[in-house]
Amino acid sequence: MDRASAEALDCDDPLRHLRDRFELPDGVIYLDGNSLGPLPRGVEERVGRLVAQEWRDDLITSWNTHGWYDLPATVGAKLEPLLGAAPGTVTVGDSTSVALFKLLVAAARSRPGRGVVVTEPGNFPTDSYVVDGVARLLGLTVRWWSAPDTPDIHAVLDDDVAVVSLCHVDYRLGRMHDGATVTAAAHTAGAVMLWDLCHSAGAVDVDLAGWDADLAVGCGYKYLNGGPGAPAFVYVAPRLLDVVDQPITGWFGHAEPFALERSYRPAADVRRMLSGTTPVVGAAVLDAALDAFDGVSMVEVRRKSLAMSDLFLSLAAERLAAYGVVPEVPREHAARGSQVCLRLPGAYGFVQALIGRRVIGDFREPDLARFGFAPLYLRFTDVYDAVEHMEAVLARREHERPENVVRAAVT
Ligand SMILES: Cc1ncc(COP(=O)(O)O)c(C=O)c1O
Repeated sequence: MDRASAEALDCDDPLRHLRDRFELPDGVIYLDGNSLGPLPRGVEERVGRLVAQEWRDDLITSWNTHGWYDLPATVGAKLEPLLGAAPGTVTVGDSTSVALFKLLVAAARSRPGRGVVVTEPGNFPTDSYVVDGVARLLGLTVRWWSAPDTPDIHAVLDDDVAVVSLCHVDYRLGRMHDGATVTAAAHTAGAVMLWDLCHSAGAVDVDLAGWDADLAVGCGYKYLNGGPGAPAFVYVAPRLLDVVDQPITGWFGHAEPFALERSYRPAADVRRMLSGTTPVVGAAVLDAALDAFDGVSMVEVRRKSLAMSDLFLSLAAERLAAYGVVPEVPREHAARGSQVCLRLPGAYGFVQALIGRRVIGDFREPDLARFGFAPLYLRFTDVYDAVEHMEAVLARREHERPENVVRAAVT
């Protein structure tokens, strides 16, 4: 594979025009959109308007006149097609961790008499921490299921399982569960299925309705490009909308927040998942950012994501294997998300040396250099050039230089 072949792939790419929807710094190859997406065009203008007109000039009237009150629904409606979700099933508001807490409690409450939560040891840590916290709060037992060791989830399911809570795509190993199969297994056991879509939303053709999923959460700041600390989204299946019973019963989830009633009455729709005042700045940024997906087919996004990771894997085999670099991701498309980790000694220094060359990825313990493929703005030539830089770093041992091995707080 030479650079001309990568150029030909860019020429044939039906999504290539979408790169213009982003403000990418010159000369940067950004392979970390799975951690923090780049700035979409239109966001800066939206924030300027929000601050200088809506907040400064129109003050509190903006809740009505500039759609602040409706932002969770406005943003939810933009997310629904990306998630294969029916209208009126998605909202935004809290961090992923808080949203996960609310959904886990709601799920457990819907299965009284069952005492087990099934989850994975390979979870992103917050998922495991929140599962542990909810288990302690409600007196549940956590049953750990390791898909690589026990591929068939039925082995850990029985009629004591209240909730199965899983990350759709593993944040380190890029392994992806089959959403429909796992959901069906959970349902056969009578459990609620809760998906964390942080590493899928915006990069994988998620199909919540098709999978028959019950509940889901996901980050706004990764492939959805909603900016640092963007609010997370929450999905509730249509059949559960008027029964889901979440624990943080704040006024924004009330049927009539401004009736200011003494007692809590949940909203009859997905708004009941809200708790407190909408984080308006973050939600407005996410709202503007999602315009980058306007008219975009998630099937095309998925096709390009896989083509990019295929290209990366074949270039890595050709040019990096001699340096002891081992790619960590399933080779079958059906089991692969939108990122690839390279396992190598000195992975932290490797990532730092690449950042010095303006190729941005991130490091995950213990020895993984992680690279995400975001189909909206990445080109096949970016993938090609990135691997060329990787080979140069290894050939010159730049990853072993003292300035590259000093750990920063955020890796
Ligand atoms: C799978 C997964 N869940 C949750 C989170 C983060 O949650 P929060 O938005 O609460 O920081 C991450 C962050 O990387 C993640 O990868």
